[in-house]
Amino acid sequence: MCGIVGYVGKRDATPFLLDGLTALEYRGYDSAGIYVAGAGCLKRAGKVAELRKAVPKGFHGTAGIAHTRWATHGAPTEANAHPHADSTETVWLVHNGIIENYNDIKSRFLKKGVTFRSDTDTEVLAELIGSYHTSLPLEKAVAKALGEVRGTYGLAVMSVKEPGKIVAARLGSPLMLGIGTDAYYIASDATPVLKHTREVAYLDDGEMAVVTEAGYSIHTLGLEPVSKKTETLEWDVEAIQKKGFEHFMLKEMMEIPETIENTLRGRLLPDIGSVNLGGLRDTLPQLAKIKRIIITACGSASYAGRIGELLMEEFAGIPVEVEIASELRYRRHTANERDTALIAISQSGETLDTLEAIKEAKRHGMLTLGIVNVVGSTIARETDAGVYNHAGPEISVASTKAFISQLVVLAMIAILLGRNDGLSASEGMRLVKELKRLPALARKMLDKRGEIEKVAKKYAGMRDAYFLGRKWQCPVAYEGAIKLKEISYVHAEGYGAGEMKHGPIALIDKDFVTVVLAPKDSMYEKTRANIEETRARGGKIIAVTTEGNESDLEKIADDVITVPAAHEALLPILTTIPLQLFAYYVAKERELPIDQPRNLAKSVTVE
Ligand code: AGP
Repeated sequence: MCGIVGYVGKRDATPFLLDGLTALEYRGYDSAGIYVAGAGCLKRAGKVAELRKAVPKGFHGTAGIAHTRWATHGAPTEANAHPHADSTETVWLVHNGIIENYNDIKSRFLKKGVTFRSDTDTEVLAELIGSYHTSLPLEKAVAKALGEVRGTYGLAVMSVKEPGKIVAARLGSPLMLGIGTDAYYIASDATPVLKHTREVAYLDDGEMAVVTEAGYSIHTLGLEPVSKKTETLEWDVEAIQKKGFEHFMLKEMMEIPETIENTLRGRLLPDIGSVNLGGLRDTLPQLAKIKRIIITACGSASYAGRIGELLMEEFAGIPVEVEIASELRYRRHTANERDTALIAISQSGETLDTLEAIKEAKRHGMLTLGIVNVVGSTIARETDAGVYNHAGPEISVASTKAFISQLVVLAMIAILLGRNDGLSASEGMRLVKELKRLPALARKMLDKRGEIEKVAKKYAGMRDAYFLGRKWQCPVAYEGAIKLKEISYVHAEGYGAGEMKHGPIALIDKDFVTVVLAPKDSMYEKTRANIEETRARGGKIIAVTTEGNESDLEKIADDVITVPAAHEALLPILTTIPLQLFAYYVAKERELPIDQPRNLAKSVTVE
């Protein structure tokens, strides 16, 4: 949610701030604003492009902050856009997060006659900091104010009285510092910084950075110094550019084969039918004693988790439960869960619900593991151990290659656990061999994108869609539905195909489109019967099946899409691809803003 950038250095801050906002726009894009010391503040409702157009000539300075917003408190108007100032316009700040007790603080100031110009919680925080800054230096005023607020924040604060200084603070919302040769950069994540420096320091919760052109220091909110090692960014700049593709989503889908290769690289042990996951090595003795696994995540990542559940039950024989993080964090755990491992899945590594579910699991003694794409992210650091996806940056709001890489990691974890618990060497070898085939099969699948585009164009005007699948394909159906919903705004629902007769089938009519995942696997006959039932009610059917089986389904489906045959447990990795492409081409045909769909943000750091 919301992207923050800051710059202090020898050069002009404005180009970095505007480019930085563009790079972070996937985090929120309903309004944007910039404050540059000496030049002033400018905000616009809408995308960063609107702000960029509005920046006048001469809007220069060597220090500044900027923000792209995903609205929480207050509509996405210019008045509610960040930066916000206190009533004397001395303190300026940008904020990612929520100040939960802002109403109490606001009433205090309203009683004193302060007038607020926005509906935001952030303006209240600016006022609070401003009230202390009358007598305290900026960092002390920020620290004192933060001592009074409840909620989450990634903050960057400036003052007219100390124009070359930025105070940045973090609690629950990501923030990092880029250390350049003649400049310091502040950002919600690495994407804006990559072009300028690879040396970064990630702020942890409860930490504050004081940054000037002369250097930086990191403190606790109690202003105790913190010594922090810097880290080196590994992603390259090309990875965050579109490289000629019309949308990041298409580029990222086209990167799926390479992503699978990267996720598997160095991890397969074909000779013994197992895998080597370095990030889990130290926890192997503990993992061997685990009696139960809970997988938690949000949205698409939770559907990956559902496939993980099947993989681990099938190959490792461990009972697995999947719960979305926003529910898990409020469920009752028993006092001692030392026999339980929690696997948290998150592309961004910053999703607040997932993070809170991890913290709750830790409180109850669970071993916590992360499947995370963004290296150094909060979830990667908060979990006891984990496996990185190595999918590279994913910019489009709709998760594609990261989802696929999550499935690959889950399959590897299932093999690892299985080989400790009954999975035979020959079955392990077979699975490892099948995993190795996946990049080529995914490439073959992507080569069929022209066919999928044709089908998508045919149905682009649809009002509703169901996605159905059984066993391995049931979570793929959930994923197909969320993908279509989020980028093409078509009402879509995913179901286990057997559920149709318990209610959903009532909606089927001639305008209702049903996408059925019917590969030739152990569930095929039953799924085929569900196609017949839907067909009998006049619904339109798009069937996804394995190559060679198309003639059987052409008789009962309106359109058939084929995927290469593979081990049925790994087939979700392939059947997901046509659904991602389908959603993409439907959205394209509907001329929608594919990479930045309305109301959504890539990284959801609010509850
Ligand atoms: C994916 O297409 C979605 N935009 C969304 O459901 C996403 O998977 C979810 O918000 C979880 O994000 P995370 O993986 O970064 O934790």
